[in-house]
Amino acid sequence: MARATSLRVVFCLFASWLLVCGLRAEETATTKREGESRIEFLRTEIARHDELYHRHASPEIGDAEYDALKRELHALLAAYPEFGDRERTPVFDDRDGRFATARHAVPMRSLAKTYEEEGLRRFHRAVVERAGRANVRFVVEPKMDGIAISAVYEHGRLVRVVTRGNGEEGDDVTRNASAIASLRAELRADFGGSAMPERIELRGEVFMDWAEFERINRTEAREGTAGTFAHPRNLAVGSLKASDDSTTRERTLDVVFFGWGEWTPQDSAPATQDEFRNRVRAWGLPVPEPIVFAEDEDGLVRAVLQAGEVRRGLAFPTDGVVVKLDRVDARETLGEGSEGPRWAVAYKFPADEAATTLRDVRWQVGRSGAVTPVAEFDPVVVAGANVARASLYNPAWFARLGLHVGDTIRVARAGEIIPVVVGVDASRRLPGADAFTVPTACPSCAAVLSNTMGGNAIRCVARACPARVARSVEHFASDACLDIDGLGTATIERLVSAGLVRSPADLYALRIEDLETMGGLGANAARALVLSIERTRSAEAWRWLQGLGIPRVGATNARRLATLFPEPTELLHAITDEAVGAVLGSQLGAATAIEVRAWFEDAENREVFERLFAQRMGRPSSEVSDGPLAGLVFVFSGQLAGATRKEASARVKALGGETSGEVSRRTSHLVVGARPGASLRKAESLGMTILDEAAFERLLEAASTSATALDAP
Ligand code: IVH
Repeated sequence: MARATSLRVVFCLFASWLLVCGLRAEETATTKREGESRIEFLRTEIARHDELYHRHASPEIGDAEYDALKRELHALLAAYPEFGDRERTPVFDDRDGRFATARHAVPMRSLAKTYEEEGLRRFHRAVVERAGRANVRFVVEPKMDGIAISAVYEHGRLVRVVTRGNGEEGDDVTRNASAIASLRAELRADFGGSAMPERIELRGEVFMDWAEFERINRTEAREGTAGTFAHPRNLAVGSLKASDDSTTRERTLDVVFFGWGEWTPQDSAPATQDEFRNRVRAWGLPVPEPIVFAEDEDGLVRAVLQAGEVRRGLAFPTDGVVVKLDRVDARETLGEGSEGPRWAVAYKFPADEAATTLRDVRWQVGRSGAVTPVAEFDPVVVAGANVARASLYNPAWFARLGLHVGDTIRVARAGEIIPVVVGVDASRRLPGADAFTVPTACPSCAAVLSNTMGGNAIRCVARACPARVARSVEHFASDACLDIDGLGTATIERLVSAGLVRSPADLYALRIEDLETMGGLGANAARALVLSIERTRSAEAWRWLQGLGIPRVGATNARRLATLFPEPTELLHAITDEAVGAVLGSQLGAATAIEVRAWFEDAENREVFERLFAQRMGRPSSEVSDGPLAGLVFVFSGQLAGATRKEASARVKALGGETSGEVSRRTSHLVVGARPGASLRKAESLGMTILDEAAFERLLEAASTSATALDAP
């Protein structure tokens, strides 16, 4: 906790800057002039968040905060219509200039939103009033949380995939979208016997399921630049709009279809949403599930509230439900309103939030030196999980909240995974409470922090910073890299503070007696640790390359580097070669090639690299592996009942097999537990052996008793 006077000065500077910008969340406009400047501010702020969300896929605030800004703008515009027309609020233009654009035959509209039961009831009443009670039957579908697309099929063949763009014209992402397995290139003939339409625009959402999101966060995010991703939507957007389609291919995306634009010939268009869903399914394309029909107002409210509960068990992210009139002719009588069609409404679920008392703000130093704030508070249950720490995103978000010791704060779980502090109740602040401040010195090594991105980031640039060293050793030892058993955070921190480890290169020089005298490890644990470090000397080269923590070099790029440089030490002199640079650029992408080169141009990095690779034994572990499962690669998906994944993979390895976190062409067996993720579909499409837990058990038993029992799982 920082209370020093000098730090308070920094905070005051921040606070006055915030006041000038009118950033205080609790501030409300009272006079017309204040109203005008607040409107101006809100427009700019919303545009900035739109940009972060849609274009950079890295939102700074949660959906609830964003929607609150929008609602405030709408309320102000209703009070002061002279400052703008709320009817004109356009959809955000997701085009980013990197793709060819294509025009939609029928524009893609947005939808009116509501957050409350009352809004839902108002919608129901308005529809009944215009369409007549007899025609009113609603379909309640999950509102998929990804990126909207329009897939154009001509005579059953996929010709183009376009993002919503500005509603009239979007980015042509056909090439990237072709990596989505569930997006069929050719529609199946409709068993109902109806002819294939000449041309249809199918409207849907590309998204990523939770299992895939978690897999990527575990592996890819260790690349060092992005950190962990806050929400699968950001990854879905990033993958669909990736500049090279190999990124899309490494990540499993999914799609569902919930509507249509053009339908030629028009007289063959579906008469109801239900019929649309059946036709789409018959063609072999997915539709949103589960759905409920509702016939009257109370039934609709019940269905929506129930969907809010069901949503927690779904395998994919949703941020609400879309309620739509089933009958298309009734839709036509309702027509379009300012925010979208009058026959549908999006009901957004309230964010799961809880109030608690803030105790401390800790500033965490990452591997790259980025210093980020973390709130520590009295434990509280949010969306079914007990949390006591939450992210404060970055110094700008932290400053915006203006936190004091003992404040009552609101904690939410963004995307229901990573808890974040979303607000503070300043009215309940204790008199004389100390304000938390942005540090000027590194909390780990006291070096002066450098301030970058206009106060949006602070960074410790000291190489020897113990926190940075510990995080980089932790990365090196993690499952994704060298997978050193028995080397956890506590041991790493002890090794660093005892001065035994200054970089990952020091690990291979550790002796059993060093570890024993350091304290914290008994004789057996010390011996086991040295052994497990030893064992990793022959790990595959890509693991070592990934372990270096070069920005943007995660498993995939490390593998590519290892393929290009089977003897990685050649990188030391090859890196400055123009021709090598061009090859790296084409294999890894320009941005990664630049990072790799910059990393190798740094003298200290080169020294760590040389020392590290001098300790490596250049034989891939798969070649030395021996045993009944040698040559087989197992992937686990879903929850195993009988063992943790770690235990299961230890058993596979003990029998000479390999395990991997993701399904690829190398995978030989997929072992599925409860609620398997997207890997199941991928495994099916690649035609590999799929085992349930019982079959997996039998295989292991057979393997341990006989070396020839592999064909009979
Ligand atoms: S129907 C005229 N159904 O939510 C728009 N939209 O705010 C008709 N979305 O842009 C849209 N799941 O990208 C519809 N089951 C669903 C949906 C859904 C997600 C998205 C869609 C749309 C936005 C509306």
